[in-house]
Amino acid sequence: MTKSDRTVKSLNALPRAVLWDNRTLRILDQRRMPRDRSLIACHQVEDVFECIQTLAVRGAPAIGIAAAYGLLVDLFETRLPLTQLKQSLSDRAEYLISARPTAVNLSWAVNRMMGVASDKFGDTRELLERLEAEAIAIHQEDIEACHQIGDHGVALVRQYPNVLTHCNAGSLAVSELGTALAPIYRAFEEGVKVHVFVDETRPLLQGARLTAFELQSVGVDCTLITDNMAAHMMASGDVDMVLVGADRIVANGDVANKIGTLNLAVLCQHFNIPFYVACPVSTIDINTESGADIVIEQRNPTEVTHWKGEQISPDNINVANPAFDVTPANLVTGIITEIGIVKPPFDESLRVMEGKT
Ligand code: MRU
Repeated sequence: MTKSDRTVKSLNALPRAVLWDNRTLRILDQRRMPRDRSLIACHQVEDVFECIQTLAVRGAPAIGIAAAYGLLVDLFETRLPLTQLKQSLSDRAEYLISARPTAVNLSWAVNRMMGVASDKFGDTRELLERLEAEAIAIHQEDIEACHQIGDHGVALVRQYPNVLTHCNAGSLAVSELGTALAPIYRAFEEGVKVHVFVDETRPLLQGARLTAFELQSVGVDCTLITDNMAAHMMASGDVDMVLVGADRIVANGDVANKIGTLNLAVLCQHFNIPFYVACPVSTIDINTESGADIVIEQRNPTEVTHWKGEQISPDNINVANPAFDVTPANLVTGIITEIGIVKPPFDESLRVMEGKT
């Protein structure tokens, strides 16, 4: 690709997952992407819950941002007295947090909003306006964080330009740009000859449908593979680094991310390939000690037994469908955050990092 091709396909072409548009929450429906790219207008909190639970919006930071705005949908039109409004907010908070258990950004964003709601307010308008400002701040800070992750991680992509990634930790999973994909986009902008192997990411194919779409839409050189091809690509010497996102990183450095991430980390150890994780500080849960304490979301077996609505496996087969796995800290080379790259030993470095935020 020539330099001018790169300029034409600027990063502005990247899709945005969540929009707050004149006090209407609009969510880009990722369930049928890339074929269908429609926006869902959320008119009630149940719409937001459904979007999060069914993965119309997905990716740890994006579901946090959606839930922050989601607390507010339709409340500007209702005229609830202050005490009733506060009760309604607290009911909504509990409800939205229950949509998905593993990504900490969901409860982090909702609890941050509820911290604001617990202040004293003269009237409902004042409370709602303050909450709207907080949701916009959460969204804006995530944009900043993604750009900074890109800045901190770009040197790694210059050093290791043949990257393998899993699931989608790009623009569609956050506010814009991405976490794992941010350093890749930065390197691409600089003219680095970056190439990305995209794991398709069974069962819901976030890699094949979303990451491949994103990378292709801006012109980043990429190759789609099925998940079971990663070892072969590594053995062939085609992978310099694995770079993935995270749904929750706990105090000892254990990383919860999309199911299949652990396989890659084990392979990286075998082939002596660096394994990096990129995430904003809001994904780091310093209050949970180890990966064993992370609740792993178990999803509907039909995601495994069916393909496009058609059953592909025998009737009554036993199915496991954990949406995430936990990579132990000792397999992680480094964590790229907005405040820099955190290195092992993570139980120490994450606490030092926490002190800086
Ligand atoms: O089930 P999903 O699609 O929400 O899972 C998303 C992931 O596992 C991502 O890798 C993670 O949230 C990081 S997003 C920047």
